[in-house]
Amino acid sequence: MKVMVIGGAGYIGSHVVKALLDDGAKVVVYDDLSSGHKINLFPKAEFVEGNILDYDKLKQAMEQEIDAVVYLAAKKAVGESMENPELYAENNLIGAVNILNAMSKAKVKVLVFSSSAAVYGMPEYLPVDENHPLNPINFYGFTKLEMERLMKWYDMLRGIKYTSLRYFNAAGYDKSGAIKGRDSKPQNLLPIIKEVVDGKRECLMVFGNDYDTRDGTCVRDYVHVSDLADAHVKAIKRLLEGKPSAIYNLGTENGVTVKEVIAATERVTGKTLPVRFVGRRAGDPAVLVASSRKAEQELGWKPKYTSIEEIIRTEL
Ligand code: WQD
Repeated sequence: MKVMVIGGAGYIGSHVVKALLDDGAKVVVYDDLSSGHKINLFPKAEFVEGNILDYDKLKQAMEQEIDAVVYLAAKKAVGESMENPELYAENNLIGAVNILNAMSKAKVKVLVFSSSAAVYGMPEYLPVDENHPLNPINFYGFTKLEMERLMKWYDMLRGIKYTSLRYFNAAGYDKSGAIKGRDSKPQNLLPIIKEVVDGKRECLMVFGNDYDTRDGTCVRDYVHVSDLADAHVKAIKRLLEGKPSAIYNLGTENGVTVKEVIAATERVTGKTLPVRFVGRRAGDPAVLVASSRKAEQELGWKPKYTSIEEIIRTEL
């Protein structure tokens, strides 16, 4: 099995590459290193340095017996997507079309796409399952939903089978320490906490402690990145076996508050984490928890990391 991982030098992509190599697959990484890291590349994987907006290069890279594509390369900062929609339209929409067109030309028939819980918007019920209404409240989530709709058409018209994986809050790092690249300007809770622990940031700002939750802070479903990576391997194999296209939530169904994340960090480090409570961040739902029952039933996927403490241990 030969798999092209587009965005394979990035955070989730490098974990997917590792899971594929560990499973015995041949891997080609296509990445422009704009946010991915050279040190995340595995010598066993072939590397093509290229941008998804370079259609000719992408098509050329695909014209070599590729069995499946995993598409992760995308802009992923929610706030930035609202301030600079053009950038997100270009990378996440035009880039997505390029990938589908290149697959169509190169006759690659299997695609696993990195989607997001952001396609749902504000949860109307919990846990959120795949039938939940799709109402993204930010441009980032809109771009992910548009790609899901495009894939449906390329499946019908070109026979490209896809699996869309809607991640909840991806967190942690490979526990063997194989993946070293870190985001230089982290936007998410755990990488920010790591910077505080490392003394690169004075304190953690907690966005709101007046939510209607058990301790007033937001509840999220943190899912370990190695568990996410495992789901990609399973999704590729399932499609290569001839099963139909599908959409799966990936989470743990276990909601954890920001205060619980802080307490778990303090248990892991044995130190008090400097924290400042500030106002709510616009667009944050109070609670976001996944139902991953469908992935469990159809993919045979179950997260191995079930406690936030274990996840934090791999992050720090
Ligand atoms: C988690 C919790 C914050 C930072 C977003 C996207 C999602 C996915 C992941 C893409 C929230 C709180 C955070 C801080 C804080 N996107 N927090 N202080 O917003 O749940 O999900 O990122 O790749 O689509 O919506 O994740 O890590 O930003 O926040 O108090 O400095 O931590 O309010 O409750 P979020 P997050």
